[in-house]
Order: sequence, then C-alpha cells, then structure tokens
Amino acid sequence: MSAAKNDYKKITTHTVFEMKARGEKIAMLTAYDYTMAKIVDHAGIDIILVGDSASNVMAGNSTTLPITLDQMIYHASSVVKATTRCLVVVDLPFGTYQGNSRKALSSAIRIMKESGGHSVKMEGGSEIAESISRVLSAGIPVMGHLGLTPQSIYKFGTYTVRAKEEEEANKLMEDAKLLEKLGCFSLVLEKVPAKLAKEVAESLSIPVIGIGAGDGVDGQVLVMHDMLGMTHEFSPRFLRRYLNLYEDMTNAFMQYIDDVKTQDFPNESEQY
Ligand code: KIV
Repeated sequence: MSAAKNDYKKITTHTVFEMKARGEKIAMLTAYDYTMAKIVDHAGIDIILVGDSASNVMAGNSTTLPITLDQMIYHASSVVKATTRCLVVVDLPFGTYQGNSRKALSSAIRIMKESGGHSVKMEGGSEIAESISRVLSAGIPVMGHLGLTPQSIYKFGTYTVRAKEEEEANKLMEDAKLLEKLGCFSLVLEKVPAKLAKEVAESLSIPVIGIGAGDGVDGQVLVMHDMLGMTHEFSPRFLRRYLNLYEDMTNAFMQYIDDVKTQDFPNESEQY
C-alpha cells in the first residue's frame, strides 16, 4: 500500500505546524485503548486523539457529557503506553474547564501528569478564552475545537451541520482567529460547510483538522470505531468506512459459537 507520508521519528506540535506550512495533510484518528493505539501508531498516524467520544463508543452513553476526568486519564494512559511516534491529544471532558480557568488548568495538569499525554483539546471559542490562556501559560499545548462541539449538544439540540448562516459563520471565523492568537497549536472544525472550513484554514497559519468539514482543510480526523465499521447505526455523509468490522466480527463470533457447540473447537492440535 502506498503511504503518502514522511518518515518522522516523532510527531510534535511543531511537526504538525510544519506539515501545514509545506502543504502536507495531517492524518488523525481517535483511539482509547492500548491494543488499538499500538496498531494505529505503527500504521503511521500523525495524531491520536483520545476523544471524549469514548463516552459513546467505549461506555455506551448517548452523549459525551458523562465521561469523567478519571475515565479520560484511564483511556489516555493506555494509549500513551502504546505509542512511540505519534502526537497524543487528550480531550478535556465536559465540566472540567468551562467557566473556571483555575479548574481548567488543574484538569489539564492532571491529564498531562497522570496519562503522559502530549496536549489537550478544548471545545469552544471566546467563551473559554480565559481557560485556554491559563492552560497554555503552564506550557500545555492546546488544540481548539469549533463548529459542532458535542459537549454543547443540549444547547444546539441536534447534531446537524453548524455555521450555515452568516452570523454563526462570522462568529466561527472570529473564534478561529482568536484561538490562533491565544496560542492554540491547531484546531478541529467539526461539521461545518466545506467553503467556510477552507476559508478558516486559509486564514490561519496553525493547522485546521476537519471532521465533516470538506477537503479544503489541513488534515482529517475520524472516530476509529466508525471508520472501521464497528458502529453501524451511525452513517453521516462525511464518514468513509474502510472496513465492515461489525459484520466480520459478528461472523467470527458466530463461527466460534458454532465450533464450540459442535465440538469442532478445540481439535487435536489445539490441546496439550
Ligand atoms: O471526541 C472526539 O472523538 C472528537 C472528534 C470527533 C474530533 O472530538
């Protein structure tokens, strides 16, 4: 398989900044556990996001809101142990940084000290500027997240495309510029029109990584369980499935059950 990637020994926040400067696209995926993170890192991913989407795909919650800081640290420390090359970004979960910059800093410090992650991601723009600044002031790199911000789902009411109207698009552009000015090293844009995302990416020198934000941005991120086809109830337009693991795994489990019931497993060579 051809890999359009450079052979970086270690990806840092500085590397992704340089990738944007030279027009190299950034590949980011979520991971939440040691085994999967090891495979993704070995495959050559640039960034692993230990996303609070763990709340959905690992814990079965319907939103990202319930996941706790302790749970994020558990997932992140498992991922960090598996990686040698990629940059690991860890989501600060809902309720650990909004509205209180001191709490934001102590949450981010816990992530960095207890998981070994390399940076944190925070959802929102001007309303969390103070929290972002305080975290940055401790030398902790911050990735921003604008557009559809799932921690605010009860404010939005739906998971539909954001910033289709001019007013929201203008606010998003202002927030993106503010995040760059504050010192964020990159930015996720989720589910916004491709034209707007391209304009944002072209207006900033930090990399803009899209999910459902079209092809004019500096990189892409997907939730691992979605791109592997392990989840099948969820089929947004932006999602490309690279495998159909839901079906393949179901078939494997059914075959195993059948083999046990029919006493085909274990056979002579599978016992001592
Ligand atoms: O938690 C997550 O997986 C995310 C991505 C969707 C960007 O924030």
